[in-house]
Amino acid sequence: MKNIAELTVAERLNWLREEKGMSEADIAAISCGGLDVEKADQMIEQVVGTYALPYSIAPGFIINGKEIDVPMVGEEPYVVTTTTKGAALAAANGGITATNSGPIMIGQVQMTGIANPETACLKIVENKNRIIDAANKVDPVLISFGGGVKDVKARPIQTIVGPMVVVHLIIDVRDAMGAQAINAMVEAAAPILREVTGGQSGIKVLSNLAVYRTACARVTIRKEDLGGEQNVDKIVSACAFANADPFRAATNNKGVMNGIIPVVVATGNDTRAVESGVHAYASMSGSYKSITTWEKNNNGDLEGMIKVPMAVGIVGGTTRKHPGAQASLRLMGIKSAVELEEVLVSVGLATNLGTLQSLVTVGLHADFEAARK
Ligand code: MEV
Repeated sequence: MKNIAELTVAERLNWLREEKGMSEADIAAISCGGLDVEKADQMIEQVVGTYALPYSIAPGFIINGKEIDVPMVGEEPYVVTTTTKGAALAAANGGITATNSGPIMIGQVQMTGIANPETACLKIVENKNRIIDAANKVDPVLISFGGGVKDVKARPIQTIVGPMVVVHLIIDVRDAMGAQAINAMVEAAAPILREVTGGQSGIKVLSNLAVYRTACARVTIRKEDLGGEQNVDKIVSACAFANADPFRAATNNKGVMNGIIPVVVATGNDTRAVESGVHAYASMSGSYKSITTWEKNNNGDLEGMIKVPMAVGIVGGTTRKHPGAQASLRLMGIKSAVELEEVLVSVGLATNLGTLQSLVTVGLHADFEAARK
C-alpha cells in the first residue's frame, strides 16, 4: 500500500473498502459523521443537532502479533502523523506487547455516622455473601455472562468532618464500561451496609480510579532505528524529567492522551472516565508522574512501557447506538472490552514514542513543518 498520507480521501475510502473489507454501511457511517439527529436524540437529552470531527486512520499497528489499523477522531493536527510514525517504529521492531488485568471495576459506598469504624469494616466483610447476592440481583444479564460482584472490601478513613467507612464492591463488568450496572449494584448493597454497621450510607457510585482494570503495553526499539544510543539516552532523560517535574509530566501525559482519546471517541466511549482514571493513577505516588516509562536495556536499545486504568466498553450506551463506533470496532476486529483496552494503551505508547523521538531530535515544530511540505 502507498503511504496513507499521500492518498486522497476517496482513495483512502477505497483502500478501506477493497483491502480492509469495510462494508458500504460502515464506510457511510465514518465518512459523514455517522450519526443522524434521530439517533443522537436517543443518545443524550435536549438534542438539536450533531457535531462532526475529522475521522482518520493510523494504519500498521502490530499489537500482540496482530496487524491493526486504528481509527482516530480528533481535531489536533499532527497527532495522527505522530501516532503513525510511532506505530511504524514499533512494528519494525516486532510490534507492541499488550496485556490487561481484566474488566474489574470498583463501586464505592460512603458510610458515615459509625462510631466504631474498625469493627464495622469487619462486620461488612463477615456479611460479604449477603451483600454480593443483593447487588448481583440487579443485573441478571451481567451475571449470565460471568460478571457481577466478586468481592467486598471496607476500610476506615479520617476526613475533616470525622471518620467514615469506605466500602468497595469489586465488580467484573465483562464487555461493558459498567457505570450503570455498578451504580445500580452499590445502591442495592447500601441497605445491608446500613443494617450491619448501624451507620448511614452517603455517596453510592463507581470509582473512575479503576486500579483493578489496568492495561499495559511495552515495546523495544533498536538504538539504530532511533539514530543511535545518544537518542535512546535523550528519551530516557526526557522520561526522567517528566517523573521529576509535574509541569513536564502534565505535557507528556497530554501527549499520550493525544493518542488514546481519539480512539476512545471513535469507539463511542467516555473520554472523561478514561482521563480522570489515568490522571488520578499518575498521582498515586503522591506527586504527579509520567504514565509512560522509557529505559535503556543492556543492549543499549530503548524499552518503553505504559500501565494505566482503562475503563471502556464495547456493549451498551453510545458504543452500541453510534454507527461510527460500531464501524470503528469492526475495522479493528475488536471482540472484547479488554482487547480495546490493550489497543488504547498501545496507541498511547506509540504516540508518546513518536512525539519523544521528534522532541529529542529536530523538534516538534520543525517536524510538523517538514511533514506539511
Ligand atoms: C501536544 O499536543 C502534545 C505534546 O506537547 C506532548 C509532549 O510534549 O510530550 C507534543
